[in-house]
Amino acid sequence: MYPSPYQPDFSKRDPYPGVDPMFPTRWSPRALVKTAIAEEDLLRIFDAARWAPSSYNEQPWRFLVSTTETFDTFLGLLVEANQKWAQNASVLGFVVAKRHFTHNDKPNDCAVFDCGSAWMSMTFQARLLGLYTHGMAGIKKDAIYTTFGIDRERFEVVAGFAIGVLDARETLPKPYIDWEVPSPRKPLAEILFQGAWPQP
Ligand SMILES: Cc1cc2nc3c(=O)[nH]c(=O)nc-3n(C[C@H](O)[C@H](O)[C@H](O)COP(=O)(O)O)c2cc1C
Repeated sequence: MYPSPYQPDFSKRDPYPGVDPMFPTRWSPRALVKTAIAEEDLLRIFDAARWAPSSYNEQPWRFLVSTTETFDTFLGLLVEANQKWAQNASVLGFVVAKRHFTHNDKPNDCAVFDCGSAWMSMTFQARLLGLYTHGMAGIKKDAIYTTFGIDRERFEVVAGFAIGVLDARETLPKPYIDWEVPSPRKPLAEILFQGAWPQP
């Protein structure tokens, strides 16, 4: 486990009664304290991702993750605003989707959706170990394809992520410190439509 003495303030979150606390207490901190993650814990996190569902069980997700030696290369592939806080992550990585089905080579329109499922599984396995994940759209996609020699025809770089150990929000500089609080959500009525699509 990777305990943190810091207790986030979840008062902006209003889960419906009975929703398991694991959902509303997951959040994406930027205040991280550089901590080595045991190899077996990393393998647990990515193995959890393996068990996600996928269209035709294609399992289109691929995870490209930093090692101690390559961390700075991964960091340099994030936009600057993300580098500022992600430098304290334990591991950085990229989710990459295989674009076509293996069984017929046709485009897999659900590949990115399935990658999202796998990402959420790894996120919750990380939380169960006391670790946090933080997704990143702010990545240098072109540079990622070229740096790692990823074939764009076959694979899509979807998003980046950090895995880390929570630190106190006070360790962050501005403006990050102001954002360092578990965020609220849209009301359920705004996203759930039972039986019919809402008309304007
Ligand atoms: C695909 C994806 C991309 C994201 N991109 C960034 C990013 O580039 N930089 C960042 O600081 N946070 C990023 N985030 C974090 C979101 O801002 C965050 O998940 C959202 O505000 C909800 O907050 P929560 O995860 O703390 O519940 C990203 C999250 C996801 C899932």
